[in-house]
Amino acid sequence: MYENSPLTGDHESDGHSHTVYDKPSLKRAIIEGVNPAGENLNDLMPRWQMSDKDVNDLVQFLLEEHQDEH
Ligand code: HEM
Repeated sequence: MYENSPLTGDHESDGHSHTVYDKPSLKRAIIEGVNPAGENLNDLMPRWQMSDKDVNDLVQFLLEEHQDEH
């Protein structure tokens, strides 16, 4: 469904080996800085503090189709 998205598409070809993101794992990456393989992201990636509503809105936006932009 999201195969063309950099967040949810194939990561193998660009040096990433973890599985793709879904809503829970993307929230965890944004808030805790952990990828779907359970690895900590580089410290350059901020650990965001925002309301549950804001992070839900954000992951919804990031995971939805953006067909107008393709
Ligand atoms: C709301 C804004 C942001 C969101 C939603 C976001 C989201 C993400 C996600 C999901 C990843 C993991 C990508 C992957 O697993 O391949 C990531 C990685 C990363 N982000 Fe962010 N990011 C944001 C802002 C930023 C900012 C402002 C910076 C630095 C100025 C940053 C620096 C990085 C870096 C360096 C990584 C790579 C970490 C690693 O591979 O170990 N991000 N970001």
